[in-house]
Amino acid sequence: MRTIGVLTSGGDAPGMNAAIRAVVRGAISNDMRVYGVYDGYYGLLRGDLHEMDVKSVSDVLQRGGTFLRTARCMEMLTEEGVKQAIDKASLFDLDGLVVIGGDGSFRGALALSKQGLRTACVPATIDNDLAYTDWTIGYDTAVNTCVNAINLIRDTSASHGRITVIEVMGRACGDIALAAGVAGGAAYVFIPEVEPNLDVLMKRLDKGRARGKKHNIIIRAEGANIGTDELVNMIANHTQGEVRKVVLGYLQRGGTPTASDRIIASKMGFRAVEVLKGEGNARAIGMHGVEVFDMDLQEAMNMTRIVDTEEIRLMETLAI
Ligand code: F6P
Repeated sequence: MRTIGVLTSGGDAPGMNAAIRAVVRGAISNDMRVYGVYDGYYGLLRGDLHEMDVKSVSDVLQRGGTFLRTARCMEMLTEEGVKQAIDKASLFDLDGLVVIGGDGSFRGALALSKQGLRTACVPATIDNDLAYTDWTIGYDTAVNTCVNAINLIRDTSASHGRITVIEVMGRACGDIALAAGVAGGAAYVFIPEVEPNLDVLMKRLDKGRARGKKHNIIIRAEGANIGTDELVNMIANHTQGEVRKVVLGYLQRGGTPTASDRIIASKMGFRAVEVLKGEGNARAIGMHGVEVFDMDLQEAMNMTRIVDTEEIRLMETLAI
């Protein structure tokens, strides 16, 4: 009987529990044994594995975060650490491991797959920064969290005729900022992939004020090439109006996953089991639209992201 493990790694994301549930129940329905690894690779290196049964994943589908917990594990960047992980995996007779996480977690899985532990990777990060897949688990929930926050902030901004700069997560990827900007009706979005153009912003604010628009929402991804405080000061100086800032921070990582995140998590978690049930190794599971697929992990990791300029143009056009 095949025995596999499942772990969550890197920043947590809403929907990870749905993916774990799909792996556990998918494995059991395929007559496989499945171990939950607690605290990501850190737990794997320390042998913190516990056999899962159907009940282990009851009542988790709707919970944010990951009940297996997660951790960032620098030891996995060393040969010694990888060897330790392989030794522990063989102690539990694992012949496959499902890794649920982001790009750093995928690097660890690739290293393990080269040392003989077959791996299948499920993309889970709110950043949506993995180029090979349309969606990563947690992204849709994070965008909805941001849009709900924008709705709340818009009320007070409008009441006071203020401009509010909202900082969202995304160190190197502006997908959350861009999607929240379009859905939330932002006047401008600053993202890491595009150099800031303050002239365009100020002209847009002036134009809006000229037609009586007294309040604005501006979104800034945390990795954009201009700081939030710097932006607030520059806008305040230019408009001579009241400007406020809100940093959404870790709010974006929590909350009950949306139906969409639960569905893609279930599809990709189950596909990972199917891959390991066969002879698959070092596979990346992904979504093209609503279709689940798997591909070579190294190839997936080599793909580079392109920013959605269409979405930028749409946001700018609608924000006049
Ligand atoms: O990768 C997801 C993410 O939430 C980023 O958007 C954010 O910059 C980072 O994790 C925060 O990392 P940590 O949880 O280690 O502070």
